[in-house]
Amino acid sequence: MCGISAYIGFREAYPIVINGLKRLEYRGYDSAGIMIYDGKKMQLSKTKGKVSDLELITDEDEQRKIGTIGMGHTRWATHGVPNDVNSHPHFSESGELVIVHNGIIENYDTIKKELIKRGYTFKSDTDTEVLINLIEEVKKVEGCKLGKAVQLALNSVVGAYAISVFDKSKPNEIIVARLGSPIAIGIGKDSKEFFVASDASPFVEYTKDAIYLEDEEMAIIKIGKKVKVHKINDDSLVEPTVQKLKMSLDQIEKGGYDHFMIKEIHEQPKAITDTFRGRMLVDQSIIKMSSIEENIEKFLSADKIIIVACGTSWHAGLVAEYLIEDMARIPVEVEYASEFRYRNPIITNKDIVIAISQSGETADTLAAIKLAKSKGAFVYGVCNVVGSSIARETHSGAYTHAGPEIGVASTKAFTTQITVLTLIALKLGKANKSLSSHEFKNYLQKMQKIPRQVEKLLEVDDQVKEIASVYKDSKNCLYLGRGFNFPVALEGALKLKEISYIHAEGYPAAEMKHGPIALIDENMPIFVIATNKGHYEKVVSNIQEIKSRSGKIIAIVTEGDTQVKEIADHVIEIPETEEALTPLLTTIPFQLLSYHIAVMLEKNVDQPRNLAKSVTVE
Ligand code: AGP
Repeated sequence: MCGISAYIGFREAYPIVINGLKRLEYRGYDSAGIMIYDGKKMQLSKTKGKVSDLELITDEDEQRKIGTIGMGHTRWATHGVPNDVNSHPHFSESGELVIVHNGIIENYDTIKKELIKRGYTFKSDTDTEVLINLIEEVKKVEGCKLGKAVQLALNSVVGAYAISVFDKSKPNEIIVARLGSPIAIGIGKDSKEFFVASDASPFVEYTKDAIYLEDEEMAIIKIGKKVKVHKINDDSLVEPTVQKLKMSLDQIEKGGYDHFMIKEIHEQPKAITDTFRGRMLVDQSIIKMSSIEENIEKFLSADKIIIVACGTSWHAGLVAEYLIEDMARIPVEVEYASEFRYRNPIITNKDIVIAISQSGETADTLAAIKLAKSKGAFVYGVCNVVGSSIARETHSGAYTHAGPEIGVASTKAFTTQITVLTLIALKLGKANKSLSSHEFKNYLQKMQKIPRQVEKLLEVDDQVKEIASVYKDSKNCLYLGRGFNFPVALEGALKLKEISYIHAEGYPAAEMKHGPIALIDENMPIFVIATNKGHYEKVVSNIQEIKSRSGKIIAIVTEGDTQVKEIADHVIEIPETEEALTPLLTTIPFQLLSYHIAVMLEKNVDQPRNLAKSVTVE
């Protein structure tokens, strides 16, 4: 969490850094700060609140904005409450060095005590101020340059970091380093300017050339020089790979929508198409995925597949469990990455681990991957962010081509993850003949129709808005589904609670009578998925049970349904498809519903309280 944005070059740094911070606010938004160096002094502005609050401060004094070197930060608090003092950047004791940091220094307390003994004082409660003072102390004691001091200091800390450090006495360079938290360097024409950021979005309009630092690497960025990258734990030089960015500016802007979330909901037809384009060749009745083809023997002979993920990605993993077991008859277990990594799981080199992550930076998922690799398992990643830590750490994998997802609540990431996982299930099912050619072909044909069906389904927006207005003041909600749609019920409940702060729970419909039924009264809205092929009659019975206890029913049904329509208070129709593919459709009304309720309650849809888009701390 936390976003870093920095600039060194010939342009005014302020607008570049501030716009960069706005694009990175999805990473944290409880406080923000910026340092601009004007050639003589480092001008610091910081505050609790959002980047827009920071702008109110800098707008009071235009002088604070002048300078061609700048470093900014948007924070998601770990050590120290969100307040002005704990906001980054942080100066060293002498005021000569400044740092912005994303991550956690675990042994900061021990280091802080030692530094206090040596006369250092601390203004904030942060681990970051400890790190910059440690760098200063090392620089003083060793009499070395900034780069060396950063390296030595980092070798004595435990934790995770992406940092950017500037020394007033060396105003043509910035030092950056990474361990566990991402950092990208944008290279301007002829190395006359450089950009540093947590992802490439802050500099996409200035350059397409970027270096993504690997773990345990640091870079010395000097105006007019080639970026020098070396290992943190020794001095060995690394030849950095300069990647060409594919991201475009309009992908990271709202494009006329009020919020990123609603833009991203509407992008799903395209995102799903982009995800299967070139992979699903319906005419030839094949799925082309080289990452699966190259490892097909491993998949087909695996004892089991273990899926690890967090949050929405974990829900996509649950859908995949149903898909892979149904279509390919390979045993699947789905684990919260945070539990898996600490519970001494039974895992061998005959197992395959699939790690699912939109950001590719989730700390728990990354740790689960490392554990699985240490036990000899083959690890396959399903990620959205190209070049992310998880994409690099896994043995092989497939990208979801959702494009940047900026709203904190995952929408298109979920449906594109399910798309990739469906392709994998189908491919494995065909390879081990669990699916007949006829079944396989039928799935491909139905899958091809999904983007158009999602597009049509998005037209229920007005109807969903009306339902939202009826239930927006509810205190509790239940979401029920069975089979392939049980995970969609969980995801529907997560969407509602994370952006509208209404308590919601997802349950397998049949489990209701083992507890949650006690909650049902006339004030309880219950969102039920009752598609025509998925245990339909059983779900209808569940709906009857709710009705006889005066619960309010909002049902998602298949077009043409008559039975549920008679009992439910509201029905939303989805187009007909194979039951295994319905999660790609049933999830859409739930996304819209959460969105509209949150808007009606005037909540911050894209940046809900206490959350961050990528959770890079455990
Ligand atoms: C979902 O809306 C949340 N933003 C959250 O649960 C998210 O899915 C989770 O933190 C995992 O993130 P990842 O996919 O980037 O690993």
